[in-house]
Amino acid sequence: MSLLNSAIVRVLPAIPRGVVRQLAAPYIAGSTLADARAEVARLNAAGKLATIDVLGEEISSPEEAQAITRAYLEVLDAIDEDGLDANVSVKLTGLGLNLDPGLARDNLEAIATRGTFVRIDMEDSSTTDATLALYRELRDAGRTNLGVVLQAALRRTEADARALAGANVRLCKGIYVEPAEIAFRNFEEIQASYLRTLAALWDGGCYVGIATHDEQLIHQAELQLIERELKPEEYEFQMLLGVRGALGDRLVAEGHRLRIYVPFGQQWYEYSLRRLQENPKVAGYVARDTLGRILPGR
Ligand code: FDA
Repeated sequence: MSLLNSAIVRVLPAIPRGVVRQLAAPYIAGSTLADARAEVARLNAAGKLATIDVLGEEISSPEEAQAITRAYLEVLDAIDEDGLDANVSVKLTGLGLNLDPGLARDNLEAIATRGTFVRIDMEDSSTTDATLALYRELRDAGRTNLGVVLQAALRRTEADARALAGANVRLCKGIYVEPAEIAFRNFEEIQASYLRTLAALWDGGCYVGIATHDEQLIHQAELQLIERELKPEEYEFQMLLGVRGALGDRLVAEGHRLRIYVPFGQQWYEYSLRRLQENPKVAGYVARDTLGRILPGR
């Protein structure tokens, strides 16, 4: 990313919410469950699976955590009613982790009890231990429809992968900016960690969701899965809604399973900022939009 682009990305939080919403529209199914249902039906028709995320990580009361839990139960009803090929992704902070880990566990159980697969997203490093611990606790108690996420950017991740034999793990690079003592910062180091971790997960017999839009990583993952003679039902690729659609189409055409992460909900702002901060084109959009408002007759 150029210096100009990174400078603009740093000021994104100062951009009016209306502009952020407009720029982030491709990354979000919409603000209602109906929007998410329609999006997932479209994806399914195109041969893609989905995981549905109710936006809402910024909560400050148990009531809000319960409201998110209820929203997930409605999503699960919708998946059943519409016969959608989809599961759900949850954030433990949205279920109340930072208020009371017991509350988050109860809410997670309420969602997982329905039987549909539930992926526990991984948030910033202050939550890694608690997230892995809760995942292990429920898995050890016999909850088999749960999966977790590992972030290649964290130095601990390869070791975490080795301790997760047999699990269902989404592997991503990691979106949160973490201190250098605990995280790789350099692009090549993160890629190398990703590939080492992927191999460790497969060594441990894990089902892996290969969550990346990085063509180099996808290519290397394809080489690994050919070498290991994995069948299409033994892994899946995962991408975010609105990112690298053509690359996703190619994976589907090649016979891979591809799951698209479909966020929806009223609380779209934080998610939108994260996605825009990753988009190399965003600086140009922001500059154009800002100029457009300053020079309306342009
Ligand atoms: P990288 O960032 O190098 O991008 C590769 C290519 O894709 C680049 O060319 C880039 O331009 C393009 N690209 C990536 N993001 C883009 C965007 N927003 N808009 C336009 N182009 C874009 N993180 C986390 O910490 N916890 C989690 O639980 C999850 N969950 C998750 C689920 C799924 C399904 C995916 C795909 C990703 C996540 N992530 C995540 C996010 C992940 O950690 C990471 O930040 C992004 O996927 C971007 O990293 P890539 O591996 O795609 O590589």
